[in-house]
Amino acid sequence: MTETYPTWIEINLPAITSNCARIIRETGTRLMAIVKADAYGHGAVEVSCAAVEGGASWLGVARFGEARVLRQNGIRVPILVLGMVTPDEVDEALASDVTLTLHNLETLQLFSARASVARKPVMVHLKVDTGMGRLGIFAEEAVRFARQAQAAGGIHMDGMYSHLSVAEEQHPLNELQHQRFDLAVHAMEDSGLRPPWVHLANSAAAFYQPQSRYDMVRVGNVVLGLRIRVDQPLPDGYQPALTWKAQLASSRLLPGGWSVGYGAAYVTSHEEIIGVVPVGYGDGLRRFPGNHVLIGGIKHPVVGSLCLDQLMVRLPHHFPMGEEVVIVGQQGNSALWVHDLAALYQISQVDFTSLVHRRVPRIYIRNS
Ligand SMILES: Cc1ncc(COP(=O)(O)O)c(C=O)c1O
Repeated sequence: MTETYPTWIEINLPAITSNCARIIRETGTRLMAIVKADAYGHGAVEVSCAAVEGGASWLGVARFGEARVLRQNGIRVPILVLGMVTPDEVDEALASDVTLTLHNLETLQLFSARASVARKPVMVHLKVDTGMGRLGIFAEEAVRFARQAQAAGGIHMDGMYSHLSVAEEQHPLNELQHQRFDLAVHAMEDSGLRPPWVHLANSAAAFYQPQSRYDMVRVGNVVLGLRIRVDQPLPDGYQPALTWKAQLASSRLLPGGWSVGYGAAYVTSHEEIIGVVPVGYGDGLRRFPGNHVLIGGIKHPVVGSLCLDQLMVRLPHHFPMGEEVVIVGQQGNSALWVHDLAALYQISQVDFTSLVHRRVPRIYIRNS
């Protein structure tokens, strides 16, 4: 028996595989698929498998716990942890061949000490802070720091990287960050210390700043078919992976002057057909004026204030209970995408997809 739900998300895995293959083809570099925060809410294990099938050489996560889940699910490709790790996690990373980010003297000392106990080197990528002001050493310190890591022992430097802070915009900082990173890369090259994997570009830089591609691009948004900027379509061929659907719970004729929802924020001006959809702000929609849903291939306005678990929509005529409602995706000739909601809520697309609550089941579509 196939399970059915009042609301669910569908993730199109062949779209992710095809997006990855396209990124690799169009950038001409290797790909690290960024799958942190459960692949921005899409499901890290399934997205990782689809990305590897599309040719991704590496996976990138923020925390070691996310890498552990991938390894426990049989994913064997190299994984880079972009953020902080605890001493226990270093031991586990050593045992499970997970690469860590070396970003300051404390991580150098920690990794070297744990490697000496395990009698196995910690695989690292050196993080250079070129203007993000987050983790990393300064570009001018790269060679001295790499030598210090060599002298400490137990550290195998397999890569070096940095992160751009305004890559999706024309901004003078992009050029400056490139220059600083290039300085570090050339200094490492001149000293015979350049590691095999040098990487800088996120989605925006991979597409808009070809000089930032180096050996690999680190892409999250475009892997999932999310736009780089909400106001700019992706090049042809990239497909959004996420669709969010629901079933209509009810449609009723309400008399004129009838209040709808908490706070009586909406009152019918005459007889109106009001539909109820089992999706609310507890699922990840935001209480913001201007929400719409698709029913019968047409966009309909949400009325009143969203409830935690339900919303109300003004309809032109009755629809039966169970009628398909699209919250995100295409229905007939109408569409509502993550970038539309992100623009409405004035947040990033990832801010939206990452916060779709886990109570909304994810259904994985394996054949297009
Ligand atoms: C270090 C790093 N690299 C790459 C990415 C991927 O960025 P995007 O999803 O814009 O491609 C992120 C995401 O925030 C990141 O933190």
